[in-house]
Amino acid sequence: MQNTQIILNSRPNGMVEASNFTIQESTINELQDGELLIKIKYISLDPAMRGWMNAGTTYIKGVEIGAVMRAFAAGEVIDSKNDVFAIGDHVQGLLGAQTHAISNGKGLSKCDLSKGNLSWHLGILGMPGMTAYFGLLERGQPKAGETVFVSGAAGIVGSTVGQIAKIKGCKVVGTAGTKAKCDYLLKDCGFDIAINYKEEDVHAVLKQHCPEGIHIFYDNVGGPLLDTALANLAKGARVVICGAISQYNSKSMYGPKNYMKIVTARGHITGIIVFDFLERYPEAVAQLSDWLHTGKMNTKEHIFNGIDTFPSVLKKLFTGENFGKLLIKVS
Ligand SMILES: NC(=O)c1ccc[n+]([C@@H]2O[C@H](COP(=O)([O-])OP(=O)(O)OC[C@H]3O[C@@H](n4cnc5c(N)ncnc54)[C@H](OP(=O)(O)O)[C@@H]3O)[C@@H](O)[C@H]2O)c1
Repeated sequence: MQNTQIILNSRPNGMVEASNFTIQESTINELQDGELLIKIKYISLDPAMRGWMNAGTTYIKGVEIGAVMRAFAAGEVIDSKNDVFAIGDHVQGLLGAQTHAISNGKGLSKCDLSKGNLSWHLGILGMPGMTAYFGLLERGQPKAGETVFVSGAAGIVGSTVGQIAKIKGCKVVGTAGTKAKCDYLLKDCGFDIAINYKEEDVHAVLKQHCPEGIHIFYDNVGGPLLDTALANLAKGARVVICGAISQYNSKSMYGPKNYMKIVTARGHITGIIVFDFLERYPEAVAQLSDWLHTGKMNTKEHIFNGIDTFPSVLKKLFTGENFGKLLIKVS
């Protein structure tokens, strides 16, 4: 049986490009005891992949040149010599950008399709949804009546954060890069205010509509937008640094200028790495699934077909061309 794999063949010098990848055919090995074979159905494209393409180690080691690109993926077990995973099970994990994966079961989790479609287990019920849930609730500690400001709000993390904040009784403001995305935040996600950061003066809109200041800033974007948020913090504010997508393709990271506002606001800045909450994922999956099924929340996907689209589709995360959780349907 043949496997089609996306190989990292060079490191980006700035923006990620399709030419950083090659597509390779290989033969699938016989299973050893304890292993299982997964036919991948969806590959997740996540902003973190840009960092994984760099040399060196941050919270995880960079992908080696010549290796299969690291990726979350979900699929069906089609052969098994493993006691935990049986043929027919649906699973997700860091299976790589390929059509088939052999796993020993470590780091793999079963997808309960009664909780949501398989693709949702890479989005709102997967790593990005877990990030939104624990990042907001554990790091942000929202209280009813507070104002939550989310950057990158129309993305899978941002839109989930905003909807959870609404459920918790907060006033929710978000930024996104197009009118269609802002309309989605207002009409489908229940945001109170959506700001097109490419066309509007974010600082002026915040001053006008949030004179009380921001109690939680959930930052997916970083850069100058972080400065704007810091300038508008309310007393006791919490700033949750989840990501800085505006900086991932830059050669040097823009640092915040308005950080002294943390002092005057008696606030704090905190970070989240979703993997620190691995043991609590089932709790979040159950709660998010309940909110989805009871109509309190919705999610949006942007799906491309065919593994060969991977090299060109990844860049869309950084140009804002994705609208919803970016996925590739493999089979
Ligand atoms: N800490 C963790 O454990 C963890 C886990 C998962 C994700 N994250 C982070 O969460 C953030 C969101 O991830 P996601 O999966 O939800 O991605 P996403 O928001 O679904 O997709 C990326 C979006 O970012 C926006 N963007 C791209 N370049 C930008 C720029 N220069 N300035 C402003 N916005 C820009 C674009 O939307 P616009 O059209 O609005 O520009 C784009 O659609 C990322 O920073 C990611 O690294 C962190």
